[in-house]
Amino acid sequence: MENFQLNNGVLMPKVGLGVYKVKGDSTEAVVWALKQGYRHLDTAAIYHNEELIAEAIHKSGVKRSELFITTKIWTSDLGAKTRTTFESSLKKLNTDYVDLYLIHWPTGDYLSSWNTMEDLYREGKIRAIGVSNFESSHLKEIMNHGTIIPAVNQVQTHPFLQKDELHDFMTSYGIQHVAWAPFGRGNKRLLTHPVLKDIGDRKGKTAAQVILRWNLQRDIAVIPKSITPARLEQNIDLFDFTLSEQEMREIAALDLNQKGFIDSSNKLYLWITRWIR
Ligand SMILES: NC(=O)c1ccc[n+]([C@@H]2O[C@H](COP(=O)([O-])OP(=O)(O)OC[C@H]3O[C@@H](n4cnc5c(N)ncnc54)[C@H](OP(=O)(O)O)[C@@H]3O)[C@@H](O)[C@H]2O)c1
Repeated sequence: MENFQLNNGVLMPKVGLGVYKVKGDSTEAVVWALKQGYRHLDTAAIYHNEELIAEAIHKSGVKRSELFITTKIWTSDLGAKTRTTFESSLKKLNTDYVDLYLIHWPTGDYLSSWNTMEDLYREGKIRAIGVSNFESSHLKEIMNHGTIIPAVNQVQTHPFLQKDELHDFMTSYGIQHVAWAPFGRGNKRLLTHPVLKDIGDRKGKTAAQVILRWNLQRDIAVIPKSITPARLEQNIDLFDFTLSEQEMREIAALDLNQKGFIDSSNKLYLWITRWIR
């Protein structure tokens, strides 16, 4: 698996497994994925599956030192509860450090959480700290407030929501872009789009693989979620083909700036996150 190097030198596998909604029997898919070579897992306290992920890691037999584990602090835990919330994630994940710890949404007391995260980073309990769903205004705010530039900003990114401006802003500060919901949350219109399908057909790949490869060629890491073995296999089989400049341009032309309800520009959604547990 190839890596991106974060702004503090830490290596992060370019492809991770998103585990939102992975629970119960479907955690077997995580064991399977780890056995197939996935080394980067993306969870969050609000997914309520950190313990199950720890069990899956244990079952897979993959050593902790070979893994890159991301988890996130939820909105209602920001501020004074940051350290105890982090310690609780560590316990559930059955580990004594996480590779990447993210502020899940830019709402609530995220500035004081950032101070605590900087402390935890200096104490060696987190290898890299970052944010999620931050627009450039939020990133400027956190960089003015703190002493560490976020290593990562994880934002929804796919061909219908390409985030070019934010991406360029992040690149100028060395903030790694990670694409959540690279398939627009399993959006059928995206996954069967003729432009993506045609490009894939020419290369013996699926539209899904074309989407992931397009992200990688924009220097964006991806964390697709799947619990289906054939798809899990596809989603890491991305390193034996390339998209031409013309193909990258064809995909660039698909942008619709298609934000859904779950977006940091939606003040109502940000407000609602404070009540979600
Ligand atoms: N930071 C945030 O606020 C935030 C928000 C949302 C998500 N995330 C992270 O991003 C991860 C991914 O996002 P997501 O789960 O919402 O959506 P996604 O990865 O865009 O889409 C997942 C859907 O696509 C299907 N799929 C997976 N691989 C496929 C393939 N090769 N071909 C066709 N369909 C395929 C999956 O089906 P099967 O599982 O049935 O195979 C599932 O229904 C999450 O799991 C989570 O870790 C972060």
